Amino acid sequence: MSREEQSFISAHPKSAALYERAQHSLLGGVPMNWMKKWAGKFPVFVAEARGAHFTDVDGHEYVDLCLGDTGAMTGHSPTPAIEAIALQSKQGITLMLPTEDAVWVGEELARRFGLPYWQFTLTATDANRFSIRIAREITSRSKILVYNYCYHGSVDESFISLIEGKAATRRGNIGPPVNPVETTRVIEFNDLAALEAALKPRDVACILAEPVMTNVGIVHPDPGYWQSAAEIARRHGTLLIMDETHTICAGPGGYAREHAITPDIFVIGKPIASGLPAGTYGCSPEVAEKITRRIHLEDCDTGGIGGTLAGNALSLAAIRATLERVLTSHAFARMIPLAQRFVTGVAGAIEAAKIPWHVTRLGCRAEYLFRPNPPRNGGEAAAAADFDLERYMHLYALNRGVLLTPFHNMSLMSPATTEADVDLHTRIFESAVRELTAA
Ligand SMILES: Cc1ncc(COP(=O)(O)O)c(C=O)c1O
Repeated sequence: MSREEQSFISAHPKSAALYERAQHSLLGGVPMNWMKKWAGKFPVFVAEARGAHFTDVDGHEYVDLCLGDTGAMTGHSPTPAIEAIALQSKQGITLMLPTEDAVWVGEELARRFGLPYWQFTLTATDANRFSIRIAREITSRSKILVYNYCYHGSVDESFISLIEGKAATRRGNIGPPVNPVETTRVIEFNDLAALEAALKPRDVACILAEPVMTNVGIVHPDPGYWQSAAEIARRHGTLLIMDETHTICAGPGGYAREHAITPDIFVIGKPIASGLPAGTYGCSPEVAEKITRRIHLEDCDTGGIGGTLAGNALSLAAIRATLERVLTSHAFARMIPLAQRFVTGVAGAIEAAKIPWHVTRLGCRAEYLFRPNPPRNGGEAAAAADFDLERYMHLYALNRGVLLTPFHNMSLMSPATTEADVDLHTRIFESAVRELTAA
């Protein structure tokens, strides 16, 4: 690790100088606090990015398997999106008035994701927040339910975890407005008995969930889990919010559509506008009818659901281009086999090195975990995390031209990723593991 750290510092003098300069104007020297988490001593500063690659200010080129933690799953600056963005930016960026694109996008979202009515935000976090508010409003219940080690953006209610079986505020939760134990029930994924018990008091407005957990490594649902969970939720009058911000990697309609799960509210953000800020949430006819009845014209601009720039013309033009011409079925047919190739390569290296790890996949997303078999829930997945080992693997890859996400070990394929990009990662992974096991 010291060798890798030293080699990173020597190869990045310009990034080092920018980081040093940034100490005087940016809190912690970074524009956003999580940018400190990159495996090197400082983040690499980007000169430019295109497709599945980017170049840093020191002139190194990288294969980007992080892809903005899904924000750039489309590949960086895909041509159809940048053309639409360039055109719309000359014709008005934000107006507080709808454009025809909004209607086109609403119709396409309904076709893709199967829910009829849509609203827009600037982030997936906001889409989750507003969905929770709607669920609380129409059920007149105060609590929500999430899964242990979930991540749904900076949603206050979701920063809760199980510590020795007891709910507690999550490590790293900065300035919570109230203890999330007051607002939230937290259970392990794939535990139907726990779900039944948590919903039984009939005070839970909604479940906020990813259909497959992606933020603590990939944790798949047991076969039939969601069909049973949805039935339990319905029986207890709890709404199901599916956050498909990451699981859109499963296919053009997301995971729920492909597995015949029907949520009451559907959320997506990140890649939906090729990385331009945009999020959206859609709801069922029943939810639409109930919430519409409760919002009066005079008050419709207040009440905790808003955002002056939400639904702006530029984001909507970018969403339209992304849905119509970037995140197409054709693109997924290219991306998914690349993730399969990644899994084959990494699994081969794990087997050859005889280390107790495994690699798993969801659509065009792949991830290796430091345990021999797939975890069934967030608690099991988190127990296998190893911060130092993770940093070693990430820095080893970065020093050889491959960027992984700074959180766990996720790799994502974009329509612009190539087999050669995947194979480069495989060779680097083999070498990193060989050095580890030789030590
Ligand atoms: C599943 C999921 N939902 C929502 C979000 C929040 O997205 P944003 O930070 O763009 O609001 C994230 C971010 O990682 C996420 O993983």
